[in-house]
Amino acid sequence: MPGTPYKVVVVGLGKRGRHHAAAFRGNPRFELAGIATRDAAALAKAAAELGSPRTSTDAEALCREVKHDVFCFCTPPRVRLELIGMGIASGARLVAYEKPIALSMNEAIEIRGHVRTAGVKTVVSHQHRYGQHYRKAQEIIASGALGRVHTVYAHAEGWMMHLMTHLVDLLRWYNGDAEAEWVMAQAAGRGKLTDNHPSPDFIAGIIHFANGVRGSIECGAGAPDVPEVDYWWRKNLVGARGTQGFAEALTGAGWRAVTPQGVQAGEGCMNYDLDMPPYVDQIADWLDDDARVHPCNGESAHKGFEIAMGMLRSVVARGQVALPLGPGEPELEALARVLPNTPVLVSIEENRKQYLP
Ligand SMILES: NC(=O)c1ccc[n+]([C@@H]2O[C@H](COP(=O)([O-])OP(=O)(O)OC[C@H]3O[C@@H](n4cnc5c(N)ncnc54)[C@H](O)[C@@H]3O)[C@@H](O)[C@H]2O)c1
Repeated sequence: MPGTPYKVVVVGLGKRGRHHAAAFRGNPRFELAGIATRDAAALAKAAAELGSPRTSTDAEALCREVKHDVFCFCTPPRVRLELIGMGIASGARLVAYEKPIALSMNEAIEIRGHVRTAGVKTVVSHQHRYGQHYRKAQEIIASGALGRVHTVYAHAEGWMMHLMTHLVDLLRWYNGDAEAEWVMAQAAGRGKLTDNHPSPDFIAGIIHFANGVRGSIECGAGAPDVPEVDYWWRKNLVGARGTQGFAEALTGAGWRAVTPQGVQAGEGCMNYDLDMPPYVDQIADWLDDDARVHPCNGESAHKGFEIAMGMLRSVVARGQVALPLGPGEPELEALARVLPNTPVLVSIEENRKQYLP
């Protein structure tokens, strides 16, 4: 018997806020009870698209009116701690929010402390993993068909604070969520330090996992091309290699694998319309049953963020950085202090437009 739908409030109605609101609205296990954003015109437009839920330009006031189960916010990366606090204070049982979870390790640690103390569940939108191509590669890896997996790898042309936590989420999944023990990285290019997803123009790093598997990640202007994919933001590749083959997914162009059974390939492309419905459905599963922990839970996102921030600390401190991380100098500020003013070297022509306008 279906129960009463979980009530949801969505704050921030840009691209991702509208995706989330539409996905909650489209799932009978949820009721989109309210939406809020400070821009009255954007609010009215979103309300018209979303079946006229309760609206407010004041998120806190909306939260006082609606007795909701889920507080969802989709704001730029600099807006996190304040809205986590608002979500907890609103009495929600679960806060769903966007990646990256923070802009520094200190902020991530503070967020984790607050939600643990409050006993509030958190889910972070690393929804790429619902893509059929990512899932197919993961199934092949988990089946043992690659023999002993020794390497997981990922790269993206897009810059770090947009894409690295997606890549890390997938790498950790492809490596059975093994703990990362240390990371080491190098970075180049100051151009994106002032972006709203502040990042070095290029970062390349390695991860040593406790199960002996080596991870490698490259994000930004110097990352290798994925020529099979046309759309620049989807020129990303994630995979695993083992003693008997490899399996990998291309964000914009399917999956492929070579195993002792032969060469295989199939379709798939990152697609919000396909990825958001199962992502929100598993939020309802976790609200129904504490044992059905969401795959994109905040504790897992914290571990992934730690890998990313560890890499920045490695660039600054020059050397290996042991995980887990405690508080420290805010990583992006420390990076800005040390990164030379040498223009980044690009790996593909299109990156010149993105990084060296
Ligand atoms: N998971 C994914 O695949 C994916 C894809 C794109 C973007 N993102 C992430 O989603 C987040 C939002 O991106 P977007 O593209 O929707 O941005 P956007 O600029 O389209 O929308 C941001 C929204 O936040 C609101 N906002 C800004 N400051 C606020 C504040 N202080 N309080 C309340 N609301 C505030 C804005 O008014 C706007 O409605 C970013 O963190 C981005 O990295 C994730």
